[in-house]
This record gives sequence, C-alpha cells and structure tokens, in this order.
Amino acid sequence: MELSGRVVLVTGGANGIGRALCQRIAREQPRGIVIADRDLANAELVAREIGATAVVCDVSCEADIQSVVQQTRDLFERIDVVISNAGVTIKGGFEAPDEDWNRLWQINVMAHVYLSRATVPALIEQGGGTFVITASAAGLLTEIGSAAYSVTKHGAVAFAEWLSVHYRNRGLNVACLCPAGVATDFLDMEDPIHQFLHFMSVTPEHVAECVIEVLRNETFLVLPQPDVKEFFQFKTQNYDQWLHNFAHVHTRIQKRLARRAVPDAKSSETL
Ligand SMILES: NC(=O)c1ccc[n+]([C@@H]2O[C@H](COP(=O)([O-])OP(=O)(O)OC[C@H]3O[C@@H](n4cnc5c(N)ncnc54)[C@H](O)[C@@H]3O)[C@@H](O)[C@H]2O)c1
Repeated sequence: MELSGRVVLVTGGANGIGRALCQRIAREQPRGIVIADRDLANAELVAREIGATAVVCDVSCEADIQSVVQQTRDLFERIDVVISNAGVTIKGGFEAPDEDWNRLWQINVMAHVYLSRATVPALIEQGGGTFVITASAAGLLTEIGSAAYSVTKHGAVAFAEWLSVHYRNRGLNVACLCPAGVATDFLDMEDPIHQFLHFMSVTPEHVAECVIEVLRNETFLVLPQPDVKEFFQFKTQNYDQWLHNFAHVHTRIQKRLARRAVPDAKSSETL
C-alpha cells in the first residue's frame, strides 16, 4: 500500500520507534496522521513538527482506544492504516508480581485486540487497509531478561498471524514488526541485557524505513536486523541447539553480573 492520501493512526507515536514512524510517514504525503499516546506533551511536539493530530490515550483501556478511533473518524471520515506500536517492558522472571504481568498483557497484547476490534470491521467494509503490530524479536525468539515481555510479545506475534490468516483474503494487509535492539529510551542502559541489545541496535529511523518497505511490498514480517531472521530460522531447524545457545548467553550474562558484584574481579570476557 502507498501511504499518499491515506489516513494513518499510530499508537505510541510520541517517542522512539513510533515517533520515527510518524516522521517518515509524513514524508509520504498522507491525508492525515493521528498520534495516540499516553505522553501527550511529546505527542503534541511530534504532531506540531509534522502537521499531525495528537490525542491522549492509554492503549490498555478499551474505552480510550474507541475514543481515539472515533476522533480520527470525526476528523478524516475514515482510517486506512493502523499502527499498533505502543509497548512496555519489565525485568525479571516468574517472580515478577501479577500486577506487572497483567499490565504487560494489557499493553503488549490486549491493546492490539482492542484496536483491531475498533478498526478492522470498517477497514474490511471500505475494501481493505493495513494493520501493523509492533511485536519484537522477543516474540520470535526470547528476551532473556524478561519472562513477561517474551510471553506477551509472542502473544503479539500470534495475534498478528491470526489477523493475517483471517482477513488477508478480505483485503487486510497485516504486518508484524520484530526488531531486536532499537536505540530508544526503551533500552535501560543500566541493564546488561539491554546493553547487549544496544550493542546490536539499529536506529528508529532505520526501523521506520523497513516498515515503509514492507507496507509497499505487502509482506508480513518486518525484520530490521537480518540476524533475527537467521536466529529464527535456526530455531525452527534445531530447537534444542537454539535453547542451548541462548542458555549459554544467559550464563555469560549472569557471570558478568556476578563480576559486577565483586569490584576487583578481573576478566576480559564480554558479552
Ligand atoms: N527499543 C527496542 O529495543 C525495541 C525492540 C523491540 C521491540 N520494541 C517495541 O517497539 C515499540 C516501541 O518501543 P520504543 O522503543 O519506541 O519505546 P519508547 O519507550 O521510546 O516509546 C514507547 C511509546 O509508547 C507509549 N506508551 C507506552 N505505554 C502506553 C500506553 N499504555 N498507552 C499509550 N501509549 C503508551 C510511550 O508513552 C512512548 O511514547 C514497543 O512495542 C516495544 O516493545 C522496542
């Protein structure tokens, strides 16, 4: 799909990947861009810069999503492209409190469900459209530092697959964005796993360029890092070896953390 003359709704567009997407899409001469984010101040900054509309929205709240969709239709009468991008993470494994697991479930999975519920029927009725879900490489592989992020991003990939299977023959083009590290505020540079991700990170502008290309080609997976495709292929070919390799990386990260706890420990080993 070409974006010229289209109406585009982007969640999480106030910062990071979403902001770069809005800036890049603006160059395609769309009819309108609506930026929905809980960070209204930054959403308004981006909107002013590119001539878009900013709307405050908590994507984990279905009423907020419905309101944003209605406001977009009131402004432009239709929506052509939906980019469901907002997402959050927490650190830790199964010991993370239920409250955190539930928050990630709501933002990283249910927000996509709410947004598709509010937009897909009209997209189909008007003859087609595009729905992009920002998942993560963690949804194809894993995120060693966060069980809840890995699980919910797998959920996001699963939901994107389901949408595509159910609606592609009715005119809906679904794309699923699965980057590994992207240099945004999302990466916590105090966290050794995020430091590792930052080491292999790409810019949000590069991610936006990859999304534009996939929208043009109407293919499913957006993989800004070619390594992710290789890891994913390897996982499907040799699941046990893949688990073994990731367990090895995990062990090395733990050793590094242990060295940090002992300030005079000497080692040249890096991640
Ligand atoms: N940065 C990375 O390394 C990376 C890697 C893979 C996937 N991702 C995914 O990309 C997406 C964007 O991440 P980013 O790196 O741009 O992060 P970011 O923190 O820079 O931006 C996220 C944006 O989402 C908004 N947001 C968060 N929760 C919200 C909510 N409940 N309602 C409305 N808005 C909300 C924030 O206000 C912010 O503007 C996320 O889904 C993230 O999981 C990021």
